Amino acid sequence: MSLTKAEAASKIMVALDYPSATAAEQLIQQLNGIPCYMKVGMQLYYAAGPTFVEGLKNRGFRVFLDLKMHDIPNTVKGGAASITALGVDMFNVHAAGGRAMMEAALEGVQQASSSNQRPTVIAVTQLTSTSQAVMNDEIGIAGTVEDAVLSYAKLTQLAGLDGVVASPSEVIAIKNACGQAFQTITPGIRPLGAALNDQSRIMTPSEALRQGTDYMVIGRPITAANDPRSAIESIIEELISYE
Ligand code: C5P
Repeated sequence: MSLTKAEAASKIMVALDYPSATAAEQLIQQLNGIPCYMKVGMQLYYAAGPTFVEGLKNRGFRVFLDLKMHDIPNTVKGGAASITALGVDMFNVHAAGGRAMMEAALEGVQQASSSNQRPTVIAVTQLTSTSQAVMNDEIGIAGTVEDAVLSYAKLTQLAGLDGVVASPSEVIAIKNACGQAFQTITPGIRPLGAALNDQSRIMTPSEALRQGTDYMVIGRPITAANDPRSAIESIIEELISYE
């Protein structure tokens, strides 16, 4: 398998973990023209809102709106409709909200889609910050984290969603359970030599690609680099040269 430069760039989701549009602006300018995704999470979205997302779209970036909705189905349906109307390319909900809630998200998408093109809708399975002890004792789910992740992935697929956020080490098991077309979006990516920061179980971009991940979320190795543009370009080169 070999990727073009554009295909490699479109697998990278740059995590815009910034407190304001102003704080994110320099990085966005530095990545101008690179066909990557920008991941906008709750910190930035709650500060900068829909206008900021529309600005990213106008500059040609794809947008993953990472708001992890989790509410009653009717509310999630409305939220999904509003997000779809913004023109984002991907958004997510929590699989723990259940099948009816995930189906309601898709109904909201259908309601707001003006064309055949709809955003990719994915689910969060088990947050990687949740240990097995916390999952068992506090959240009340028995068994291993991997079993919970796989059972949420299957539920997500039953509800008709397109994929899940997962650790790169879970991709093979998820693809085995749900099929190759079921998408996986993986954080915890660190190019060789990059600082780990607070991530513990990490893979390099090419290792993650070898697992079969569809998109990799990468934040600080790009956003905190001295030269973010050359940081993303070397990741793109690594992905292109991967065989
Ligand atoms: O800077 P770094 O590459 O660690 O950023 C990873 C991004 O992926 C952050 O936005 C983080 O919130 C997100 N994320 C994660 N682990 C998860 C889910 C999301 O690191 N399990």
